[in-house]
Amino acid sequence: MAFVSIRDLKVAFDGTQVLHGIDLDIARGEAVGLVGESGCGKSVTWLAALGLLPGKASVSGSVRVDGLELIGAPVRSVEKVRGARIAMI
Ligand SMILES: Nc1ncnc2c1ncn2[C@@H]1O[C@H](COP(=O)(O)OP(=O)(O)OP(=O)(O)O)[C@@H](O)[C@H]1O
Ligand SMILES: [Mg+2]
Repeated sequence: MAFVSIRDLKVAFDGTQVLHGIDLDIARGEAVGLVGESGCGKSVTWLAALGLLPGKASVSGSVRVDGLELIGAPVRSVEKVRGARIAMI
C-alpha cells in the first residue's frame, strides 16, 4: 500500500473547478516532484490534503496518509499529520 495515496482529488473555488481529479501514489521513502506551469494546482493539491484551504473551497476525493483518510476528517486527525508527517514550506 502507498504511504500517501490521493484519489480523484477535486477542488473548486466559488464553483470554479481548479483541480479536476488528481490521482497520485507515493511509497514510503520515495521522493516525487510535481511539475507544471504556474496555476496548474501544485500548491492547491497539498493545501487541500492538509485542510488549509479557505472555506469557499469545495474539496472532494480521497487523500490517505499511512491509511488515515484526511479529506473530511476531524481537525484533530488532520493535525496528527499536518506539521508532523507532512509540512509545506
Ligand atoms: N484562495 C484561492 N481562491 C481562489 N482561487 C485560488 C485560490 N488559491 C488558488 N487558486 C487558484 O487555483 C489554481 C491553482 O493554483 P495553485 O496555487 O495550486 O498553482 P501552482 O501550481 O501552485 O502555481 P505556482 O507554480 O505559481 O506556485 C489557480 O488557478 C489559482 O488561481
Ligand atoms: Mg504553488
